[in-house]
Amino acid sequence: MSWRHIPILARQITELLITKPGGVYIDATLGLGGHTKYFLGKPGAAGIVIGLDKDACALQLAKANVADGRLKAFHASYLEAPRILADLGLKAADGVLFDLGLSSYQLDDAARGFSFMQAGPLDMRFDNTKGQNAADIVNTLPADELENIILKYGEERAAAKISLAICAARKEEKINTTTRLASVIERVCPRSGKTHPATKTFQALRIFINGELEAVEAAPKMLDKILAAGGRAAFLTFHSAEDRIIKYALKDLAASGNWRLVNKKVIEPAWEEVKANPRARSAKLRVIERLA
Ligand SMILES: C[S@@+](CC[C@H](N)C(=O)[O-])C[C@H]1O[C@@H](n2cnc3c(N)ncnc32)[C@H](O)[C@@H]1O
Repeated sequence: MSWRHIPILARQITELLITKPGGVYIDATLGLGGHTKYFLGKPGAAGIVIGLDKDACALQLAKANVADGRLKAFHASYLEAPRILADLGLKAADGVLFDLGLSSYQLDDAARGFSFMQAGPLDMRFDNTKGQNAADIVNTLPADELENIILKYGEERAAAKISLAICAARKEEKINTTTRLASVIERVCPRSGKTHPATKTFQALRIFINGELEAVEAAPKMLDKILAAGGRAAFLTFHSAEDRIIKYALKDLAASGNWRLVNKKVIEPAWEEVKANPRARSAKLRVIERLA
């Protein structure tokens, strides 16, 4: 199978972020390297791109896909960016992209357990070399903790009903597959409309397991450790909780006087892009620049 992920707002991000010829750029969520290819393709632009990803398989695919010696790829969380810059003997970068969430490649690979549409092990870890997976969570947490996770990270109104159904089902037999969890949810929340009733629960488990919101909260706070004056950070968000965190964090930075919002109004993909790539429909881009 050849894996795909179409980079979102790639042209606009490249224009706004890659501004210093020969500069040092960080692709904090390298994925399959789609945005990095644009960065390295801009004539006279990026000197090097430091690509980070928690997913070791994605890194291998990105290296093959980008096939450019100017990409330095590391299996690491983006929260490790200050250490990685220091290890490379670099003081600061001229730009950083955070393209948050998961890639189409991860969703499409049944073995990774992110999708309720395909039978697979209930995993959902970006870094599947360590930590608890989704099966560990749904088979062990008490009902009230499961309910909190589904409510907080999925904004799912039926969280109480779903968590009780999970606890009842796991007494009969452990829930170890994506399709079993989806059918447990469907039994208490029958389908109505286009969206599958398991959508928000799967999103909640993924965000919780990967500590996504905690990392999103920490990212704007580390910008002063990784960006040079004049350097820019671009954040591409895909759901309201993520976007709220970034929107207010960037406003706070701008209020400090040391940063400037590059786009006052959030940038969203045009309908042509959404038509060609439905995953782009919820994307929101915010960019900030370091002044001092
Ligand atoms: C939306 S995809 C990026 C796609 C990429 N821009 C492209 O065009 O191919 C997000 C990627 O971020 C990775 N990721 C999520 N959280 C991360 C973190 N804290 N540190 C590093 N990578 C992370 C995921 O594993 C996934 O591969």
